[in-house]
Amino acid sequence: MSALPPEAVTIQSMFGRVAERYDVLNLVLSGGNDLYWRWQLTRAVRAQRPARVLDLATGSGDVFRALQRGKAYTHSCLGADFCLPMLQVAQKKGIGPLCVADGLRLPFGEQRFDALTIAFGLRNLVDRAAGLREMRRVLAPGGRVYILEFSHPVWPVNRPYFWYLRHILPTIAGWFGSECAAYDYLGTSIEAFPQQEKLAEMMREAGFESVRYQNLTLGIAALHMGQVPL
Ligand SMILES: C[S@@+](CC[C@H](N)C(=O)[O-])C[C@H]1O[C@@H](n2cnc3c(N)ncnc32)[C@H](O)[C@@H]1O
Repeated sequence: MSALPPEAVTIQSMFGRVAERYDVLNLVLSGGNDLYWRWQLTRAVRAQRPARVLDLATGSGDVFRALQRGKAYTHSCLGADFCLPMLQVAQKKGIGPLCVADGLRLPFGEQRFDALTIAFGLRNLVDRAAGLREMRRVLAPGGRVYILEFSHPVWPVNRPYFWYLRHILPTIAGWFGSECAAYDYLGTSIEAFPQQEKLAEMMREAGFESVRYQNLTLGIAALHMGQVPL
């Protein structure tokens, strides 16, 4: 993997430090909703039954495993992430094949995959527009992208939710021995992340068509989908 810009190195090392506690914190901080969100993603992929899937920002591998168990693809799945300690957590669970790769410079030729999933990863890319273009590049004509990400909940849930992100979430993360800074970052990055319509527009600008999204849990998360033109 070639040299990363300093902001990306900061993100990479932050995930490296939380890797061991990542799964349990996901479950606790989302109140178990993360399982439902990944299930919805798996369902959407399975509806198309693509042959070759790339699970980008695969992290500790829970999306990869859900796709595998859900028989969502017909041929192969590959997990890619730029944080080795996260991949090691996935590996310990028996998930693979995995590869270390930067989402902004994927080590794959054009049109290599028929579907690409990315869960809670796009928000962390230092250049999201470039990341979307890179996803499009590695997808074959007709290939689909599935982006599961935290989003902006509907009124009136939005205000208490953002309050929870700012004041409660870093404290709970601290109880689990995780550094508060990483979870301050989580809240801040969610608030700053483009709203549902804006992300759909960015996907169109990156060359995807038939872009649509589905709010999950009142918009706390959203699943965006798009297709590479045939
Ligand atoms: C919040 S975790 C999500 C992990 C997993 N997809 C899930 O649903 O639990 C975000 C992951 O994105 C990865 N990531 C962030 N920026 C990346 C980049 N530029 N290239 C590859 N992976 C990246 C991090 O290393 C981390 O494992």
